[in-house]
Amino acid sequence: MPKLKVYVTRELPERGLKMIKERFDAEVWPEYAPPPKKVIIEKARNVDALASLLSDKIDAEVFDAAPKLKIVAQMAVGFDNIDLQEATKRGIYVTNTPEVLTDTTADFAWALLMAVARRVVEADKYVRTGQWKVGWHPSMMQGRDIHGATIGIVGAGRIGYAVAKRATGFNMKILFYDVIPRPEMEKELGAKKVDLDTLFKESDFVSIHVPLMKETYHLVNADRLKLMKKTVYLINNSRGSVVDEKALYEALKGGRIAGAGLDVFEQEPTPLNNPLLKLDNVVVAPHISSASYETRSKMAEMVAENLVAFFEGKKPPNLVNPDVMKVRPLSKQF
Ligand code: GLV
Repeated sequence: MPKLKVYVTRELPERGLKMIKERFDAEVWPEYAPPPKKVIIEKARNVDALASLLSDKIDAEVFDAAPKLKIVAQMAVGFDNIDLQEATKRGIYVTNTPEVLTDTTADFAWALLMAVARRVVEADKYVRTGQWKVGWHPSMMQGRDIHGATIGIVGAGRIGYAVAKRATGFNMKILFYDVIPRPEMEKELGAKKVDLDTLFKESDFVSIHVPLMKETYHLVNADRLKLMKKTVYLINNSRGSVVDEKALYEALKGGRIAGAGLDVFEQEPTPLNNPLLKLDNVVVAPHISSASYETRSKMAEMVAENLVAFFEGKKPPNLVNPDVMKVRPLSKQF
C-alpha cells in the first residue's frame, strides 16, 4: 500500500520530523519563511494530512482545494490561524500541542515581566553604549519591585496558572479573571477571582493568557488601559490581537501605564516602524515564548503522534474539534 501523504509547512525539530518521515510520504517546505498561501493550496490538493505552524493560514480556501485532506496537525497550542468551523464541517480533524509548552511559556512571561520592571534591556544598552559614566548613583535605572506586588492574570488556563504559580514564589497577591471557574487557582495558589475591571484597576502587573477569539480580540483596549494604575506593566505572550496596539502605544507614550513586555504582535513580524519599538519601556521578543530546545522538540513529536494516532484509527491525543468525529468517524488507514 502506498504511504499516506503529508505536507509539512516548515522544517520541524529533528525527532518529530523523523517520526513523520518514517510513517508517511512527507514533503517539507524547505525555507525559513512560511510557504505562500498559494503553495499551501497547491500542496494540499494531493495530501492526506498537513502539519502546520501558527503562521500558516489554513481556511476554507485551503480545504476546498484539498479533497483528500483529513487532518491538520498544528505545532502550537494556539490554533486561531485555522478555521475550525470549516474544518469540522468537512470532517477534517485539527490537533494542537498543549501542555508540553506550558511551563516554558510561563517562564518567558516572567522573563518579560522581570526584564521590563527592572529595566534589564535598557540597562544592557546603557552599559554597552557607553552611557555608564558614573559608577553608582541612587537614582540610576530605578525600576519597580516585583515581590509583594499584585499580579492580575487574564485567562487562568494552563499557562495562566503556571504564571500565577511562579508569582507565589515572589509573595505576590494574585488576582485572576476567567470566563470559567478555576477553583484550583483559589485553592492551590490562594488567588482571588475578580471581574476584568477590578483586575485592571488593582494590578501592578497584568499578564495576558487567553486564546485569540472573537470575544478576546482587543480585550485590552483604550478604555481598559484607562482603568489601570499609572505604574502597571502589561505582559502579553498570548496573541498580539488581544491587545489594541495603537491604544497601548498611546497609553505608554502618554505615561498612562509604566511599560509592557510583548512577545506577540498584531502583525508578525511586526514592522520596524511600529511606534512601540521606539519606546524604552517596552521589551519585545519575536514570538518565542515556547522556544526552548526541549519544548520545541517535544512539540514536533506531538505533531507526529497526533498524525500517527489518527491514521491508526485512534482519537488523536490533542484533538481540538471533537465534533468532527460525528462527521468523519475514526477509521484505520495504516
Ligand atoms: C505559540 O504561540 C503557540 O500557540 O504555541
